[in-house]
Amino acid sequence: MTPVRGGTPRNPERRTDGPIVARFAELLGTPLLPWQRMVADIAGEIDPDTGTYFYDTVILSTPRQCGKSTLVDAVDTRNSQWGPNRFIYYLAQTGKDAGDHFKKYLKAIQASPLSVITTRPYLGAGDLRQPFVNGSVIMPKSVTKVAGHGVQGDKITLDEAFSLSEETGNTILDGFMPTMATRLKATGVQPQLWITSTEGTAESTFFNRKLDECRAGEQSRRTCWFDFGIPEDADPEDLDAIMRHHPAAGLLWDKSQLADFREQFKGNPAGWARAFGNRRDAGLSDRVIDEATWAVSAVAPVSPTDLDGRPVVFGVAVDVDGTHTSISAGICNPDDTVTTQLLKILDGTGYAPTELARLCAKYHAPAVIDSRGTAADLSDRLHHMTDRNGDPLIEFVDMDAADYLTIGQSYVSGLVNKAVYHATDPELDASAANSARKWAGDAWRVSRRGSTGLTSPLESCMLAAWGAAHRPEEAGPLQIF
Ligand SMILES: Nc1ncnc2c1ncn2[C@@H]1O[C@H](COP(=O)(O)OP(=O)(O)O)[C@@H](O)[C@H]1O
Ligand SMILES: [Mg+2]
Repeated sequence: MTPVRGGTPRNPERRTDGPIVARFAELLGTPLLPWQRMVADIAGEIDPDTGTYFYDTVILSTPRQCGKSTLVDAVDTRNSQWGPNRFIYYLAQTGKDAGDHFKKYLKAIQASPLSVITTRPYLGAGDLRQPFVNGSVIMPKSVTKVAGHGVQGDKITLDEAFSLSEETGNTILDGFMPTMATRLKATGVQPQLWITSTEGTAESTFFNRKLDECRAGEQSRRTCWFDFGIPEDADPEDLDAIMRHHPAAGLLWDKSQLADFREQFKGNPAGWARAFGNRRDAGLSDRVIDEATWAVSAVAPVSPTDLDGRPVVFGVAVDVDGTHTSISAGICNPDDTVTTQLLKILDGTGYAPTELARLCAKYHAPAVIDSRGTAADLSDRLHHMTDRNGDPLIEFVDMDAADYLTIGQSYVSGLVNKAVYHATDPELDASAANSARKWAGDAWRVSRRGSTGLTSPLESCMLAAWGAAHRPEEAGPLQIF
């Protein structure tokens, strides 16, 4: 069988429900391929202490055209027969993705001997479902539909989970996980969450984190996982290597078809390596500031002794998980342009209050910080710092959540229009090169999880530039005592 790239081995001491899944797959007309059977056997292991599934979570990563979704269908059909009134969800990125796959499944089951255990499917636009005689039901849904409401069920699959951001994925899990214990008690069958996908990109923050945890051995003992794909040192252009590591190669398609698949990815080698080698596309597809703009907006750093009374605002930003805090200055030049300059990258957030208070006092400058997100805790601490008389120690430029969403766009247009500059700094250069965008409709912000390095240096410059443009009136020119 195709070698796995990583994952949970079969524990032969446990019984497994896999053979029953295999029987359902045969009846559906898609007898399990060896890799599908392996996954069914391990995911279906029975805990001898409880008599139900040992695993509550199954994480499955394979290349495309493997038979992932087809395996999910067989498992779901079997799952519907563990008892009466079971709720099974098949979630995909959009209602169309979920529905397209589900209609294929409906055809297969209705044409199979299993049609006798089903009742008439619902085919409504927003209400596709396959009910069974025993009252169980399988329902496809779009992730976005479900995310706001929460799902309670006995089995839920997040298919092609690479498309989910960490927020969206976790919202769904937050709705489902707490109900698992209740359902287990009510039904006697351990509910299961399946997360299945081909590797994604740097934007695939939900699935990347799940996989990375498994690869680091940090998954819960109730999670089993499976990872198929080419190893790190393989060349994705070597079709023989793809054939060796793709678990459906030679079974669902052969090498001559593989060459045609490659043709479809002409000019897109990273897309090819991802789809058929299951290799994560770690490249930044969408950097915040393109290299050319960044290069032409660079100026020499300003030394504190050369400020000549120019007003200053300090921007403060925090990296994901609070690993670093960056402080940048926004310097208001006499010609109304702003120079942004990275001053400090501090470890953690603990040193930031003292350092910022010192800078603000020394330069009589206000600060600007996001009061939500990764900086929320630090912002709170900074706002509560007082001097001996109980007066606030640091003055802030007020910024609300809507303002915050504009800082990246206004910074980039400032650089393009030559209204904003950045003082050269290798760590700021790295941050600009590694920071990716995250889109929400027509607006974007820096994607902290989707980026491949520290984002706080760049974000602190964005904040500093915004702060310099929105400085409180009374902040006069720099005074030196
Ligand atoms: N066990 C199987 N036997 C026969 N055909 C299968 C089997 N598993 C998958 N297929 C077929 O292979 C194709 C790809 O399967 P699919 O489940 O969509 O793959 P994936 O979700 O991994 O991209 C589909 O046309 C499907 O019907
Ligand atoms: Mg699929």
